[in-house]
Amino acid sequence: MIYELEMREEVLEFLCCPICKEDLELHKVLKTREHEIASGFLACSKCGRLYEVKNGIPDLLPPEFIKGSDKRWMIAYDRSARSYYILMHIIMPALSLWTEVLARSEWVARLGLRRGDIALDVSTGTGRNLPFLLKRVGHKGLVFGMDISKGMLAYAARLVKAKGWHNVELQRANAAYLPYRDNMFDGVLHVGGINTFEDKARALAEMVRVAKPSARVVIVDEGLEPDKRKTLIGRFLLRTNALYFSMPPEKPLREQVEDLKVEWGVVPCWAMPMWPFYVMEARKPLREASGFQHRPQ
Ligand SMILES: C[S@@+](CC[C@H](N)C(=O)[O-])C[C@H]1O[C@@H](n2cnc3c(N)ncnc32)[C@H](O)[C@@H]1O
Ligand SMILES: [Zn+2]
Repeated sequence: MIYELEMREEVLEFLCCPICKEDLELHKVLKTREHEIASGFLACSKCGRLYEVKNGIPDLLPPEFIKGSDKRWMIAYDRSARSYYILMHIIMPALSLWTEVLARSEWVARLGLRRGDIALDVSTGTGRNLPFLLKRVGHKGLVFGMDISKGMLAYAARLVKAKGWHNVELQRANAAYLPYRDNMFDGVLHVGGINTFEDKARALAEMVRVAKPSARVVIVDEGLEPDKRKTLIGRFLLRTNALYFSMPPEKPLREQVEDLKVEWGVVPCWAMPMWPFYVMEARKPLREASGFQHRPQ
């Protein structure tokens, strides 16, 4: 099934070439409505690379950025997108008795978004965070969702279309090579992918780069608090998912942000093993520290 979306032309103001970070221009586009692009190409004004737009989703992922564990997990998520959608949008909210909903609302609340703000959901997957972000920014705000997996994005697109959300824009890209200009977003959220990223430090630097000065960046992923790892339930959980051994990658983030807080939590799910996580919350400084300017390829 095809879920056709359109990319609004104004989105070009946010996008840049993921390779050289220069402007993108429209190239042979098919417009469904005035200022809305269904398909075509975006061309980099510097390196000339062409990026395809299909069903309103620009593919800003050059093949050279699909490597190592990013590639392995991209393939895995492409294959399991349908099951992930059913798990996250139907089974998990029901079986957790809405504690998952409360957890996501709380992670999004940490961004401190206001009506009319522009938010980015890094690794949006099937779009599970989108309704929570939209609730905060309202109909005058804008939410960007990016992901490396075409399969996952197809489900996010389906959700956007089904809900009639007109202020969501989706892009395919690698989180470590974000296709957005510097200082664009009022809040940057990431839930559930960084543990497996090929280059975590680069992805963190990119999330900070695209946030506006003083905007918040919130990063959540699976992990069990070290103190709990030796307990009976801790040992059981670690057997069910090796990713629960993950530690928050706070060191590379600490150098770039202010007010970094790292907390551990658990989403209780009554009919299935609980979901332990860490959350890192930080603020981009008003003035950038010298060490983390983006590094074009
Ligand atoms: C566990 S899912 C989380 C999806 C969503 N954030 C959620 O909370 O339901 C992890 C997502 O990370 C994406 N991902 C993995 N590696 C990535 C990368 N290097 N860049 C961008 N997304 C990536 C996967 O395609 C997948 O959609
Ligand atoms: Zn370029």
